[in-house]
Amino acid sequence: MKVLVCGGAGYIGSHTVKSLLREGFEVVIFDNFSSGKEELVIGGEVIRGDLDDKEPIRRVFSTKKIEAVLHFASLIQVGESYLNPQRYYTHNLTTSLNLLEAMLEAGVKKIIFSSSAAVYGTPQEIPITESHPLNPINPYGHTKLFVERILQDYERAYDLKFISLRYFNAAGADPDAELGELHNPETHLIPNILLFLLGKKQSFDLYGTDFPTADGTAIRDYIHVTDLAEAHVLALRKLVASAESDFINLGASRGFSVLEVVKKVEEMTGRKVSFNARPKRLGDVPVLLASKERAEQRLDWKLRYSGLETIVETAWRWHRKTAPRID
Ligand SMILES: NC(=O)c1ccc[n+]([C@@H]2O[C@H](COP(=O)([O-])OP(=O)(O)OC[C@H]3O[C@@H](n4cnc5c(N)ncnc54)[C@H](O)[C@@H]3O)[C@@H](O)[C@H]2O)c1
Repeated sequence: MKVLVCGGAGYIGSHTVKSLLREGFEVVIFDNFSSGKEELVIGGEVIRGDLDDKEPIRRVFSTKKIEAVLHFASLIQVGESYLNPQRYYTHNLTTSLNLLEAMLEAGVKKIIFSSSAAVYGTPQEIPITESHPLNPINPYGHTKLFVERILQDYERAYDLKFISLRYFNAAGADPDAELGELHNPETHLIPNILLFLLGKKQSFDLYGTDFPTADGTAIRDYIHVTDLAEAHVLALRKLVASAESDFINLGASRGFSVLEVVKKVEEMTGRKVSFNARPKRLGDVPVLLASKERAEQRLDWKLRYSGLETIVETAWRWHRKTAPRID
């Protein structure tokens, strides 16, 4: 089966491409390399193109026999989305609309969408199930929710089928150390600590030490990127087999505070992590934790790599290997 992976040269997209290739899928990667990296492309056919324009993606569908799509391409920084909402709304919605238009034109009606826990906003109950109210508190989260709404409307009108995967905090790196996280700027906790330890960042800022949690730092649900990747393969198979649309959380249902992560990094690297305590960031909530029941039941998903030790160990291996090339 030939699938199109939009954003396949990025962090989660590249790990998913690896899982898809391993499972025998033919993969076409479509990416503008705005945040994607050549070194994260380890297979599949690569087409350089921008989803902001209609023509390049149309050409892909008219020249390749694509049967389903995985859509990772998006701007992803919550903080930036507060400062520049126009960029987020324009980019995240236009790219998705252009992709969907090209798909429908070509009669391709199956898509796996990268959504986010950000669609839930401030949790009213923990763990967060898929039926939790949807009330994003930042423009980034709004764009994810809007795309989910578009998918629902397109299903009703055009019989498009989708699975929207709502990720919690993606973390870790490919267990073979072929792939890993390379965002720039990096806003995620674990790579930021590792970059600091490797001398690639001058300091490590820890945001929020007065949350109502046991140690005062925020608790998050870290899910290993290879577990995420495998969930995409399962979701794709499910969508093809059942043609039923769905919304599914992808998290480990277990939380760690920032200080617990810091301690684990110290333990695994043997190095001391010093930090600057900073005020909490706009919209940061004390605890985010997924219910993974639906993913386990409907996708038969089993976590293999999402222990904190494995997350830190795989990330550390990748960052140590990659550090000389990070500027
Ligand atoms: N990283 C996380 O923890 C996390 C959590 C929740 C949701 N998500 C979602 O998962 C998806 C992937 O995240 P990531 O961390 O891998 O991000 P990433 O920035 O590493 O990957 C995004 C990819 O999309 C490509 N892209 C962006 N705009 C494009 C365009 N106009 N045309 C073509 N390609 C374009 C980029 O070059 C990059 O390769 C995003 O949709 C993000 O919102 C990520």
